Amino acid sequence: IPLLFMADVIYGFKTAFPIPLALSCSFNPDNYKNATSVAAAESAASGIHLTFAPMADLVRDPRWGRVMESPGEDPYLNCIMTKAAVQGFQGDNPKEKGKIASCVKHFAGYGASEGGRDYNWVDISENTLYQYYLPSYKAALDAGAKMVMTSFNVIDGIPSSANTKLFRNILRKEWNFNGSTISDYAAIHETIINGLAENGEDAALKCIEAGVDIEMMSTHYINFGKKLVNEGKLSIELINQAVRNILNLKNDLGLFENPYKDASEEDEKRLHLCTEHRQLARQAARQSLVLLENNGVLPLNSKAKIGVAGPFADTDSASGGWFITAKNGSSSLMTALTERGFDVKSAMTAVLGSMEDKVFDVEDKTTEAAETLSDCDILIAAVGENPSDTGEACSKTCLRLSPNQEKLIQKLKQTGKPVIVIVFSGRPMELKPILPYCDALIQGWFLGTETGTGITDVLSGDYNPSGRLAMSFPQNVGQIPIYYNNYRTGRPYTGSNDHYVSKYLDCPNEPLYPFGYGLSYSKVEYNNFKAFVKNEKIEAEITICNRSDKETLETVQLYIRDIYASVVRPVKELKGFQQISLKPGETRTVHFTITKDMLKFYNPQLDYVFEPGEF
Ligand code: BGC
Repeated sequence: IPLLFMADVIYGFKTAFPIPLALSCSFNPDNYKNATSVAAAESAASGIHLTFAPMADLVRDPRWGRVMESPGEDPYLNCIMTKAAVQGFQGDNPKEKGKIASCVKHFAGYGASEGGRDYNWVDISENTLYQYYLPSYKAALDAGAKMVMTSFNVIDGIPSSANTKLFRNILRKEWNFNGSTISDYAAIHETIINGLAENGEDAALKCIEAGVDIEMMSTHYINFGKKLVNEGKLSIELINQAVRNILNLKNDLGLFENPYKDASEEDEKRLHLCTEHRQLARQAARQSLVLLENNGVLPLNSKAKIGVAGPFADTDSASGGWFITAKNGSSSLMTALTERGFDVKSAMTAVLGSMEDKVFDVEDKTTEAAETLSDCDILIAAVGENPSDTGEACSKTCLRLSPNQEKLIQKLKQTGKPVIVIVFSGRPMELKPILPYCDALIQGWFLGTETGTGITDVLSGDYNPSGRLAMSFPQNVGQIPIYYNNYRTGRPYTGSNDHYVSKYLDCPNEPLYPFGYGLSYSKVEYNNFKAFVKNEKIEAEITICNRSDKETLETVQLYIRDIYASVVRPVKELKGFQQISLKPGETRTVHFTITKDMLKFYNPQLDYVFEPGEF
């Protein structure tokens, strides 16, 4: 029986793509699909058969370090992105050369860890679970994902790995999933620490019964499986089912004929970091960053002398926390700007300490940096969080930039020169404190191998930025969890002076930047919105005009509100989007057809229904 070689190939193997949250901000599923198909080709050549990806967990809390691996806060966008990711890894058939099997994770609700603290418990209503959290896992299975991983969290009082309702009822019965399942790392053992299983034997029994086929890392199945069967406590049929699922997977991958599948040193040389892969990574990088502010300083004047400062000005490690196979090797901003012909100078480029190492800052060279760069025309601050402070076990309660980075931005602004701030982070940070000092602000995430080149495409104006946020940016940590598609309160705040309404006394309800937000270098006008019912469908259209002299890629987003229903519905929900390219001055009419299916939701009995009414 051949072995299965499995690994975390999340957003690249040797060629690093932007982190998944950033890919989602491109609102272009092709970028995620390219990322995973490149990752599949490169890792298959190195002998990998299956990846523990994509992570489909919906997220609302940027304190949680793993938001970087998620497609974001919206069920609709998450489904589209997750599906694209699976298609890229597996193609039409994971047996094909250069494809690997995909394991969607973490089932279920891991993104709702209370307080944003990793591995923490989750307490969400069934309606919320079905409405918001489950759809993206299901989308992965509809796209053919071969495996499902449990999550670390307790949900409804039961750890996911021992959760019969999740793994037998929802996954197998409701969704007819016939692939295999795996626990997360030692999660079966952790059911003992949770206090659900009495000991290793009990943990094995409960998790096999719940429907988990493979135990990752801990060894209770191996230690106690046989004993449990011999003593009549565990039915051999459950063992047979689990084994059959795993053998089927190996068979689907063709491992019985060819146990090492695509492993080939020659292919490794040919594919790893090849030009074609890097080009796809560069397109993804420039489409994934999000322009948040711009008073006209961008795009850069090609004649201007540019000063670049901060820990991300000249680093080759901008691939984010999950990149284990090639941590370094991203193109640096300084190098890319220089190669593009800009006159550049740098200062204070020392590496940022990580919170894990208890050195959460850079040395204060802010005064010297401002002095050194004072003869430049435009200043760029490349700031953010240490890549190893994002990802698993990297929860934070303070989302501000480190003190010396905030100080650097202020000092640069005091020179009187325009300041462009680029934030490298795996999560939405608290950016309000730096806003007064930014002439332009770019959310640069961690963009992978083509970080510098991708950003330079945008800074130079060679690419007109098109990214839109897949996660809301809070005004401050006190607003968290914050997301755009919340349920409706009975006392909404409408801007009046009423005291007894749903609001904060010290902060607006709105996020600093909402889901779906992002600027380009063009002024785009939306006019003539129309919606009418025809043949039991709603036809909606709008005219979009590019009032600029630059070609632009505009993401037209369709949101719906269900005015009245048998359960309280969200204030609005994304139901569609179209990315359209507009030439300078061009006007186009964008059309959406809204079907009854798109208006369905889970009613109080958890039936997925369409209720006629006003939308
Ligand atoms: C993570 C998973 C990952 C696994 C194997 C766990 O700690 O939660 O996402 O796939 O480790 O590396």
